[in-house]
Amino acid sequence: HTGDSCVMVIFGATGDLTKRKLVPALYNLAKAGLLAKKFAVIGAAFDDMDTEGFRRHLSDAIHEFAAIELDDALWTGLEERIFFAQGDFRDADYYRRLKDLCERVRGELGIEDNHFYYLATAPAFFGEIVQQLGRAGMAQEPAGHWRRVIIEKPFGRDLDSARALNADIRQVLHERQIYRIDHYLGKETVQNIMVFRFANSIFEPIWNRRYIDHVQITAAETVGVERRGGYYENAGCMRDMVPNHLFQLLSLTAMEPPISFEADAVRDEQTKVLRAIQAPTPEEVLSRMARGQYREGSVDGEPVPAYRAEPNVAPDSHTETFVALKLNLDNWRWAGVPFYLRTGKRMPKRVTEIAIQFRRAPLVLFRNTQIEQLQTNRLVIHLQPNEGISLQFGAKVPGPVMKLGAVKMDFDYEDYFGTSSSTGYERLLHDCMTGDATLFQRADMVEAGWSVIQPILDVWKALPPRAFPNYAAGSWGPKEADELLEEDGRHWANPL
Ligand code: BG6
Repeated sequence: HTGDSCVMVIFGATGDLTKRKLVPALYNLAKAGLLAKKFAVIGAAFDDMDTEGFRRHLSDAIHEFAAIELDDALWTGLEERIFFAQGDFRDADYYRRLKDLCERVRGELGIEDNHFYYLATAPAFFGEIVQQLGRAGMAQEPAGHWRRVIIEKPFGRDLDSARALNADIRQVLHERQIYRIDHYLGKETVQNIMVFRFANSIFEPIWNRRYIDHVQITAAETVGVERRGGYYENAGCMRDMVPNHLFQLLSLTAMEPPISFEADAVRDEQTKVLRAIQAPTPEEVLSRMARGQYREGSVDGEPVPAYRAEPNVAPDSHTETFVALKLNLDNWRWAGVPFYLRTGKRMPKRVTEIAIQFRRAPLVLFRNTQIEQLQTNRLVIHLQPNEGISLQFGAKVPGPVMKLGAVKMDFDYEDYFGTSSSTGYERLLHDCMTGDATLFQRADMVEAGWSVIQPILDVWKALPPRAFPNYAAGSWGPKEADELLEEDGRHWANPL
């Protein structure tokens, strides 16, 4: 069903996100008939621009970034509903103008009195904008209508700042008005983890410590830090990827079945899993967590510079661009099953996947078979770039001698469902317009995620790495990451 009639105000509208993701996503929603006819976008930014210039900027961008051929009439229909308000987010007067513009646009286009504010600014502005919205009377919900706020990541930079931001915005907003975004939850295959687990009766009975040996979650990127050195130097790989994206994947993989698919039922279970992750002691940080930084190397056959040579990066930077962690969950289902997570920039391949490694068969009937070959049962949920699921099992290699080989059954999203032009933001925007917060992070989830990594951040801060840079661009990370698994007699399943 279509989203409610509303005005979307994008703060930080001249940035990359608006043109690459948000506007193409709105276009895709309009094309699918999921956007209310009575709808408008107001871009808010400090840049010197006007409505006409903003429309031109977006029109150029959508022609460049749209994955499909544009339906010009449809785009024009949307473009006419886009406006721009230039100003300073710290200035109370700006919000009065913005409020007037919202009212005028609603009146002219016959839009209902519903607003959502998309905060796509530098994180330092999140708290300020929400306070200002409150003071300007723009956050209060008129009877029968709504006001919602979508907050981009990063939500805080550690546990304390996340808590402070939560406290700050809750002075103005009710939790039900707050939509903390994690774009991983917009990905079809991430949503499919729940369907896969809870709509099929064959996997759930074996989804536990009795049958699963361990789980590996990999989010590898080939890109380096690009033009984001300024942000990344302060964040680092751990903050950038782990408490948010990787923990979403972990919690959906490990959570108990929710009692329903209502937002809070799902988020209760996700939060419980995050709370079950054992917080590492300082010794465990040293023995179970690996960090790395790329030196120069080559990716896809092209030479690429070291992290320290990237723009806005200190020449002696101690920022990590890779992390690998071994986590244990203190709960009934997962006791004793390690979850190995790793993520990094400048890896040999762009790949995000969750590999569930099942235990070996209880009895080795096949003599002369290497143990390795018996570790055949692996289920891999491929999230990127090729979305699908594959199940590996052992089969007899044809021939007169008994030999085992690992074979695979593959399900590929594209084969079954065709290609999609989705940006991953369609579902999230639509959910916000219909008031469904299931795929957004609740305050306690965000804080639970930070609680797990805070001890690691503390130890790492106290002990700057001595050996950086410690992996070549285009490799699978530092040797410490391999050792994490080797110590346990396991190894990473590096995708080919
Ligand atoms: C972002 C991080 O949240 O996610 C980036 O800030 C990272 O550093 C990106 O590159 C990865 O997203 P995706 O969808 O390409 O896996």
